[in-house]
Amino acid sequence: MPDLSSKPLLGKTALVTGAARRLGRASALALAQAGADVAITFRSSSREAQQTVVDLSGCGVRAFAFRCDVTDEASVRTMMREAGRELGRIDILVNNAANYETVEFEKLTVAQWDAIFASNTRGPFLATREALQYMRNRRSRNRKDEKSTPPIEGKIINMGSLGGIQPWATHAHYCSSKAALHMLTKVMAKALAPEIAVNAVAPGMIDLGDKSAAAFMRKMAKQTPMQRNGRADELAEAVLFFATAPQFITGQILVVDGGLSL
Ligand SMILES: NC(=O)c1ccc[n+]([C@@H]2O[C@H](COP(=O)([O-])OP(=O)(O)OC[C@H]3O[C@@H](n4cnc5c(N)ncnc54)[C@H](OP(=O)(O)O)[C@@H]3O)[C@@H](O)[C@H]2O)c1
Repeated sequence: MPDLSSKPLLGKTALVTGAARRLGRASALALAQAGADVAITFRSSSREAQQTVVDLSGCGVRAFAFRCDVTDEASVRTMMREAGRELGRIDILVNNAANYETVEFEKLTVAQWDAIFASNTRGPFLATREALQYMRNRRSRNRKDEKSTPPIEGKIINMGSLGGIQPWATHAHYCSSKAALHMLTKVMAKALAPEIAVNAVAPGMIDLGDKSAAAFMRKMAKQTPMQRNGRADELAEAVLFFATAPQFITGQILVVDGGLSL
């Protein structure tokens, strides 16, 4: 973990989608520990979102939670307006909200296909498009200050997946949606430069303590060169890396998988 006592994100603001719990919460907390004011979104986990706001505030920053369905254009627009109003400007957007599902290829329905793409690919597109006006919003609107105002250096971090790189037979829709998100990361990096750097973190097997996945996790750990699965704090550190990285680093997909994909 970088030296957070120096608070590299002090004075910055961040919005993390789907961050009431699990990896999104870990990323939000890492950004808050680095000094950023943080807004999170949630869809159904309102109790967990409230707790996360309490924990974020405990880092000494301003924290907010907004309900949002990232598949719904109006919902994203409303949430972004509220977040923009509270944060003033959005410096860092983490597109974390997503869904994961296991379905045999022959049984995969159009509804399942479309639902996964709606949250995992269209969601980050919508959130990014609606965030742009708040990310490009200069803090100082005083024209006299224009020359002394530092350049806008926004960061967008998409949560991709090892499944967007490697084909998983029972996850055709999930893998395709994340592969599309990886491409969207590169397209946005080109389209939104130089003001905004866009990168993705692609987690491999991350152990979040799900009891139902314990046997699978043990099997995957054995196949992983690092001989274990990843932890939430390791993913959060990768998000923090891009949030604090030089603006010249853009369009990259950082696989965090303990070497599983090698
Ligand atoms: N965990 C892993 O091992 C792993 C591996 C590879 C990639 N990833 C990626 O890393 C990110 C975080 O992983 P995770 O396992 O922590 O995710 P997760 O628990 O599956 O989902 C994160 C949050 O997304 C929100 N969400 C789902 N659909 C939504 C929608 N339509 N609108 C708004 N929010 C929605 C949910 O919010 P509510 O709970 O409020 O409904 C959920 O808490 C995801 O992008 C995931 O694909 C994770």
